[in-house]
Formats: sequence, structure tokens, C-alpha cells
Amino acid sequence: MLETMKGAIFDLDGVIVDTAKYHYLAWRSLANRLGFEFTERDNERLKGVSRMESLQILLEVGGVEADEAERQQMADMKNKEYVGYISRLEPSEILPGAKEYLQQLRRQGVKIALGSASKNAAFILERLGIATLFDAVIDGTKVSKAKPDPEVFLAASAALGLAPADCVVFEDAAAGVEAGKAAGCGAIGIGSPDILSAADWVIGGLDELVRE
Ligand code: BG6
Ligand code: MG
Repeated sequence: MLETMKGAIFDLDGVIVDTAKYHYLAWRSLANRLGFEFTERDNERLKGVSRMESLQILLEVGGVEADEAERQQMADMKNKEYVGYISRLEPSEILPGAKEYLQQLRRQGVKIALGSASKNAAFILERLGIATLFDAVIDGTKVSKAKPDPEVFLAASAALGLAPADCVVFEDAAAGVEAGKAAGCGAIGIGSPDILSAADWVIGGLDELVRE
């Protein structure tokens, strides 16, 4: 599959950069302000999920009711704290092998896209100094349907000018693997085979794909 792919589409959080911990810290602060605990286990359910859907899950965990205006205010509060963390993001927080693998693919002539639910994606790529490695960036500002809907990966393959079947998606979230398969792409899971069983193949990290 990797030998024949013409396009590689990468999720951002948890695949390219270790931002999941900052999402967690910011969501946990919000939960604490609302008067309940939010564990790392609860946080697993938010991976790959859009900001507003993440908030919905968090409010369910805490048994908190909120109207539309209150939700918007809560999401803004969380994002403000999160942006505070990612404003201090260092290139050292790029996950092992990620940058090297992107460079390797470029040398091989494989087209590269980002396919992320995050509205902060462009800012993060700039901050990490890797924006120029991507031929296309499809993020939360460009799509309306959240993973596991295939929209983000269909848009990413189209932006590369390729058929989905010629693209491989790299994902750390179950919803992302599902979205990649639904788009008709190959899917490589990054993380635990138990959680990512729908993937064609599961690896521990992109460093496993880097050739010396
Ligand atoms: C995804 C993360 O990449 O982006 C989710 O896995 C996050 O945890 C989502 O909620 C939206 O991110 P943002 O930056 O737009 O709040
Ligand atoms: Mg992810």
C-alpha cells in the first residue's frame, strides 16, 4: 500500500504533533470550572472529534446542561486556554519521525495533505516550521462534517488532484480511521491495535516508516 500510494493525508493532533495533552489540559480546566472532574480516560473520546462535539461529550460526562450561547462561551474559553499552550509550542514537540517521514515522501514524489478537524491547524504548522512540507491543508475551517464522516479526506484527496483510492490516511483516532476508510483511502492507524482495529495496518509511530 505504501509503495503504490500517490498521496499521503495526515491527521495533525496525535500524528504529527503531541497536542493532545494541551487539548486535555484545557478541557479539564473547563470541567473543573463547571465543578466536575474530567479524566484522561474521558478525554480519549474527544480525539479526532470537533471542538463543539467535544464540548457536547464533556457536558454529558459532567451532567451539565447549557444553551447555545453558553456553549459558545465555554468553547471559546477552552480554545483561549488551548491557544495559550500552542503559542509556546516548540519544534521539539513534533512526534518522532514525523518531519523525517514527510521529507522522505517529498523526495519520493508523494503528494502530502493535512486532514485535520482542528481550526488551529494552520497556526500549529507555522509554529512548528513544517507548513511548507504540505501541498494542501484541509482543516476544521474548511469542512463542516466531523470525522467519522469522510468529508475531510475526500476534500484532501481532491485538493491533491488524486483519487481517494490512491491516497493513504494516517490517523491516531478511531473516528479518523473510520473516516479514511469511508472516503475510500487506505488507512494506517498510529497507536493501539485494539482502538484502531478498522485500519489496514497499525504502527506505533511514523518513525517506524523512516528509512535511514
Ligand atoms: C482534533 C483533535 O484534531 O481537532 C480534537 O483530535 C479537537 O481533540 C479537534 O477537538 C478540534 O480542534 P480545535 O483546535 O479546532 O479546537
Ligand atoms: Mg488525531
